[in-house]
Amino acid sequence: MGSVKTLETEVCILGGGPAGMVLANLLHEENVSCVVVEKLDPESIKAEGRAGIIEWTTVEALQQHGLAEQMLSDHRTQGQCEFRTPEWTFMLDYASLNGGKVHTVYPQTDLVYDLSNVFEQRNGQALYRIEGQSIEQSNEGVTLNCVQADGEQLTIHASFLVGCDGGRGLSKRAIPKEAVRVYHQAHNIHWIAILAQAKPYFPYTIYAMHPDGMAAFLMRNDSVCRYYLQIDGDDDLENWNEDRIWATLEQRFFMGNKNLHRGNIFKINKMSLRSLVTDPMRYQRIFLAGDAAHLIPPTGAKGMNLAIHDVLVLAELLIDHHHGKIDSGDLDLYSKKRLPLIWKAQNFSLQLMNMIHKHPSDFDQELWMSKMKQLQTSPAFATDFSIDYVGIL
Ligand code: PHB
Repeated sequence: MGSVKTLETEVCILGGGPAGMVLANLLHEENVSCVVVEKLDPESIKAEGRAGIIEWTTVEALQQHGLAEQMLSDHRTQGQCEFRTPEWTFMLDYASLNGGKVHTVYPQTDLVYDLSNVFEQRNGQALYRIEGQSIEQSNEGVTLNCVQADGEQLTIHASFLVGCDGGRGLSKRAIPKEAVRVYHQAHNIHWIAILAQAKPYFPYTIYAMHPDGMAAFLMRNDSVCRYYLQIDGDDDLENWNEDRIWATLEQRFFMGNKNLHRGNIFKINKMSLRSLVTDPMRYQRIFLAGDAAHLIPPTGAKGMNLAIHDVLVLAELLIDHHHGKIDSGDLDLYSKKRLPLIWKAQNFSLQLMNMIHKHPSDFDQELWMSKMKQLQTSPAFATDFSIDYVGIL
C-alpha cells in the first residue's frame, strides 16, 4: 500500500470558485496559511457557464486587495436594463436613481481564473483535480481526506475548513442535520439557460414578459451572450433545438421580423429556481460560504456577489483569530453578520423573479404585474430597487 501524503495548514478551503479563491488570497495576504482543494482544473472552471454581473461593492473590495486588475482592464459597465411586455417597454435607468452605481459585466469564470492566477503568482497553494472524500472533526482540528487525479490519497489537517464547494458539495454534507436549520423553497419556475458565441444584439440586460413565459438577455462580453427562457417544469431540453431556441427568443423579445445575432450555442442546461439558507453557516470547525451555505434564484445575479461578501467577512474574522484578537466563539459573528444580508438579497431576487415570470395563477400574474408597474410609477420603489439591484448593503 502506498503511503498517504499529508499536509498541515491553518485553513483548508474546499472549492476553488469565487468564494474559495477570494478567501485564499485574503488569508494568504495576511500570512494565514491555507490550502485550496479543487476538483476541476483552472481551464475547465473557465469553460463553465456561470453568472456575469459583479456588484460595485464586490468590485471595490476586490480592488482593495489588488484582485480586480485584470477585470478592470477588460470589462464593461451597465447602468440600465429594459423590461418588455406585449403592451409596453420600460427602461430602468438604475444608475441614475442610485447615485451612479453600475454593474460590472465580467464573466464569473474569468474572474475565478484571474483570482487563481494572482494566488499562484503570490505563491499560494492551490491543489487542482483533487476530490474531497470525507471530513472528520476533533477537538484538535479538522481533517479532509481526498484523492488526487492519479488515485493517490491525500490527507489535509487544518484548524478550520471552509466549504466553498457549492450546493452539492461535501462540506455541507459533513454537518449533521440537527446542527443547523435549512430553509428551503422550490419556486416552480424553470429555465433553459444558454450560452452562445454571438455578438450581443442589445446593449444592456433585457427582461421580457411574454404570455408564453419570460425571456432574458444578459451580456457576458463582446462575443458571448447569456439567454434564459422560461419553460414548463415537465418540458425537456430534447424538445429545444437551436432554431427553436432562437425563434422563441426573438418572439419573446417582441422583435417582429428582426433576428438576434444568432451564433453557436455552446452550453445549454435546464434550471429549476430555488432558494435555500443555512443557519448558522458554521458547525464547530467547518464554515460554509457561497452556494454551500445558500442558494438564490439567478434573477438579480446575487449569487456570486453574496459568496464573495461571505468570505470578506469570514477572512477578517479568521485573520483576527489567527492574531489572537478574538477567540473561537467570536467566529460565530460570521453567520450573525452575513445572514441578515443574505435574507435581504433573497427578498430582492425573489421579488424580481416574481415580477418577470409567467405565473400559473391569474391572481399571482396580476399581483406581480402590479409590482412591476410600480417600478414605473413609484419613484420611491424604483429608487429602492435600483439601490438593491447593484449591491445589497
Ligand atoms: C446572469 O448574469 O446570469 C443574470 C444577471 C441578472 C439576472 C439574471 C441572471 O437578473
